[in-house]
Amino acid sequence: MKVEMQTKKRILSGVQPTGDLHIGNWLGAINNWVTLQEQYETFLCVVDLHAITTAYDPKELSKNTLSTAALYVACGIDPNECSIFVQSQISAHSELCWILNCMTPINWMERMIQFKEKSIQQGNNVSIGLFDYPILMAADILLYDADFVPVGEDQKQHLELARDIAQQRINAKFSKNKNILKIPQSIIMKNGSKIMSLIDGSKKMSKSDPNEGSRINLLDPPEIITKKIKRAKSDSFNGIEFHNPDRAESRNLLMIYSLLSGKEISQCENEFSNTGWGTFKKLITEQLIESLEPIQEKYKVLINDPYQLNNILQEGKDKAEDLANKTLKRVKSKLGFFEMEK
Ligand code: TRP
Repeated sequence: MKVEMQTKKRILSGVQPTGDLHIGNWLGAINNWVTLQEQYETFLCVVDLHAITTAYDPKELSKNTLSTAALYVACGIDPNECSIFVQSQISAHSELCWILNCMTPINWMERMIQFKEKSIQQGNNVSIGLFDYPILMAADILLYDADFVPVGEDQKQHLELARDIAQQRINAKFSKNKNILKIPQSIIMKNGSKIMSLIDGSKKMSKSDPNEGSRINLLDPPEIITKKIKRAKSDSFNGIEFHNPDRAESRNLLMIYSLLSGKEISQCENEFSNTGWGTFKKLITEQLIESLEPIQEKYKVLINDPYQLNNILQEGKDKAEDLANKTLKRVKSKLGFFEMEK
């Protein structure tokens, strides 16, 4: 008897290769991919074209791209199961982005919250690319007919935009059956999707924060972790709590501790209800060092083996490019572009 294989649903996600990845990227994104990779056909992209939407150093770009890919693997992404690839290696991303640009009303873009926030940070040096960032992201997603896109809360609006473009501007306009592009759904990663800054519990931990002390990078050595946690903002309350709205820093560190130790929040709350900041900081420092050590070990091996990394990215590219080109061809054909006779 023939057994029908059920095909896995597909997910696609990505992270920008801007500088060192930190525990917010890990706990909020990569770690969730690690959990999802068995259940889904997984495509993971290092979005280097997004990384040039704000000022960047060309000497660092390629190095950061490689180290981001290595960190995916070091954090537990299995390159035999997932396709890991570099966005700029597949020209279909830029090409679909252009086509989507021409289909998207400007006033949809003017609503994008992240653009508004980032352009304030940039002063008067805002590029068209930064404005266009969400459409390139839509292209990333739509090229792979992704069923689901695991993202943090802050990317929800971008995903809505990708859905609206696909549904209203491509499918509805260019196809009777409305089936040119697959409409993706988000998987909003609640757990850890908002790891906050160590120096201000109301701000998200971010690579672009000029203060290094605001984040723990995945490759920080134990001395640096110790120093950063020592200097992390605390408060004058006793005990470490999660639910007190006046204690953003306590909540954040407890969340980090809970995610790293695998203990439930409620269990941590009980355990630390009478613990002072000094003692808790020591414990979380030890936990961080212990949790990051295996990642750092694996990273070291990989980054010193460019041949293996290259192979991983080549295989990822081959698989991704095949899919992406098929989608692009379908879109171009439906939109009326000239096609060569075979
Ligand atoms: N904008 C995303 C972020 O900052 C990164 C990203 C780019 C992405 N393209 C994507 C995420 C496609 C998911 C799918 O987190």
